[in-house]
Amino acid sequence: MKKYGRLKEHKKDGNIIYISFEKGELEIQIITEQIIRVFSRLSEERPVSKAIEGDKVRKVAFAIGEDEKSVQIHLPKLTVQVFDEAKVDIYDKDGKPVCIDYRGERVSSQSLDQKMLELLEREGHSTQENADGHVIQVLKKLDGDECFYGLGDKTGFLNKRGYEYMNWNTDDPDPHVDSFRALYKSIPFFITLKKDTVFGLFFDNTFRTYFDMGKESDDYYWFGGDQGNLDYYFIGGDSMKDVVKGYAYLTGTAPLPQMWMLGYHQSRWGYQCEADIRKIAESMREHHLPCDVIHMDIDYMEKYKVFTVDETRFPDMKKLTEDLSDIGIRLVTIMDPGVKVEKGYEVYDTGVEKGYFALDEDGQIYENAVWPGDAVYPDFGKDEVRDWWGENHRMLMESGISGIWNDMNEPASFKGELPENVVFYDGGRKSTHAEMHNVYGHNMARATYQGLKKLTGKRPFVITRACYSGSQKYAIAWTGDNHSIWAHLQMAIPQLCNLGLSGIPYVGTDIGGFGSDVTKELMCRWIEVGCFSPFCRNHSAMGTRRQEPWTFDQEVLDIYRKYLKLRYELLPYLYDLCHVEEQEGLPLMRPLVMNYEKDEETKNLNGQFMVGDHIMVAPVTEQGMRQKLIYFPEGEWYDYWTGEKIQGGQYKIRHAELDECPIFVKAGGIIPKYPPRLSTSEEKDKVLILEVYPGKAEYVHYQDNGEDFHYQEGEYNLYRFSLDGNELSMELIHQGYEKMYETLVIRYQGEERVVKFEHDYMITLE
Ligand code: NOJ
Repeated sequence: MKKYGRLKEHKKDGNIIYISFEKGELEIQIITEQIIRVFSRLSEERPVSKAIEGDKVRKVAFAIGEDEKSVQIHLPKLTVQVFDEAKVDIYDKDGKPVCIDYRGERVSSQSLDQKMLELLEREGHSTQENADGHVIQVLKKLDGDECFYGLGDKTGFLNKRGYEYMNWNTDDPDPHVDSFRALYKSIPFFITLKKDTVFGLFFDNTFRTYFDMGKESDDYYWFGGDQGNLDYYFIGGDSMKDVVKGYAYLTGTAPLPQMWMLGYHQSRWGYQCEADIRKIAESMREHHLPCDVIHMDIDYMEKYKVFTVDETRFPDMKKLTEDLSDIGIRLVTIMDPGVKVEKGYEVYDTGVEKGYFALDEDGQIYENAVWPGDAVYPDFGKDEVRDWWGENHRMLMESGISGIWNDMNEPASFKGELPENVVFYDGGRKSTHAEMHNVYGHNMARATYQGLKKLTGKRPFVITRACYSGSQKYAIAWTGDNHSIWAHLQMAIPQLCNLGLSGIPYVGTDIGGFGSDVTKELMCRWIEVGCFSPFCRNHSAMGTRRQEPWTFDQEVLDIYRKYLKLRYELLPYLYDLCHVEEQEGLPLMRPLVMNYEKDEETKNLNGQFMVGDHIMVAPVTEQGMRQKLIYFPEGEWYDYWTGEKIQGGQYKIRHAELDECPIFVKAGGIIPKYPPRLSTSEEKDKVLILEVYPGKAEYVHYQDNGEDFHYQEGEYNLYRFSLDGNELSMELIHQGYEKMYETLVIRYQGEERVVKFEHDYMITLE
């Protein structure tokens, strides 16, 4: 671990305070009133952040003081104090400690000698490298009441306290369980919540990094790594929402998606030919199942070669997309990074000729293998490679394909992991796999997003498996290869909620599970959760039990349809949340602790979640169970199905038959809905439904054309609905788009009232 020695002097230059020590230097940069960067150069390079784009610095007045022990930086809401050994403490404006560096040494973790390691390995146990003593190591003091949230897609529970993790994007097909240290995404950001404080820490380092959330000791938690620089951001705020917004301010919010992204997506690895795809689309309609998208996995390509279509199995892709579009269904195709080694194959030849592929240390093109056999890896860190990759999608876009699914972009490799010294570029700078691995998927998604935007002018639909902080600007994400097991349905809730807290709002699991065989009961319970996940896609692996909704029995089909119908009714509510997300960075799917952080009961609540501020979902996720113990935070709640009023601040058991997912609406909730439809592109009947729950309420409703970027020039409408007693008023607060509705249906306390839709008016509800 780097030693800094005694504090010597400091100097200020603009918003940076340079503090020197006997053996090093630290920079404290004031980004905003609540965001402080702590930086120390430990490597030769000072790379440009992949997560943070543009200048985030705001003008903040601050004063510097010093005494013999420390340098103090006084901001309006925080004080940063720096001591010997580059220890950094942060206090709030009243002098209360917020984030304090630990002063002791790390206790050495249990060390095993070679013989013991061999014994363990002989029985097939995995052994970990000794993670002690990283060059970069930040130890923060634990007070005891800390809960930790965020860190992307890590397995296990909502609260990460007591666990350790590694950030190294990893494709591991075994069932993902609590003890996994790494998965597909590297989001080195977490939120620390204490009884009276909350803050976030973002360690912006793309190399392999480690996070110990109080596993090793009750006295401290730590994060670190061995390469790159010490470069982390403290993100303060008065609430957890403030911290999430602060992180989104730094790394970017997710752009508004096209409306159809919120529709239902059907997928399976194994749709082999045009007839298979047509059959799925027809079955959707035949069974009156809402559906907007079918995903085409690797089988559409010729010999798994990217940017090709197998014309014997898909003779006329354009005709296929046009025919499906007539019934409101779009196609999305998968795209892997690995390019088949084959002379005469244009993508390979161009990449070789132009120097677009990663190289080994001798300067030869590095080869490994993925689906097409021997394959090479585009070097997405280079601007020209991203441009080339984006442009390569032209043929698919011209065939009417609506979006691209980026897979295997950790990057995955079938002949062992890529050596750390494989040469990848970071812009014009020569770098290594060690540095660029965790941003490989990020850069691929970026290339795809920019390509699609240029080619279509629409809001690009890109899904990615691998991410780094900030990937939300380019893609939505799914949680990779889960299994059809109850443990993975249970894990879906904390995993998706933590992704949302980590800045990635559009997320979903493979509904029904990817590997293993789903049962009827599991399928029902999964769609009851999945219909609320921001990205709602049923996907499964070749060779497993089919899991399209009609492949079970009538009961499953009816339950499945019930929840897809509910999702489509909720489209305007979900789309309003997308608008909030883009503006502020708050996720659609949230753990209860985000809305009720002072309530101890919410801190470890893994089995319930909020959709926005108004809807609480408490699904049954246990086999054979027909009831659920539900926690109701403060306030009053209404049972969505029965209308029963429930006082908050208590646990209650709710009976829930197989077709029932307990859902509750907060008193004062206004939920906008659309009449049921089979596709978001179905001719709209110009009706807006408002379900109004008694209480004092205010709700902002957003609308635009749902597909392009004109909203950024003001082409959108914003309405404010307010409920005060039984007076419901509506006010148009921004007009930039055509009037979308003719009829307003108001549902209030069991009564329904239909009125002409006007822009501004007041209605007295009975
Ligand atoms: C791995 C992906 O995670 C999965 O969703 C996909 O079906 C397979 N690759 C095949 O492309």
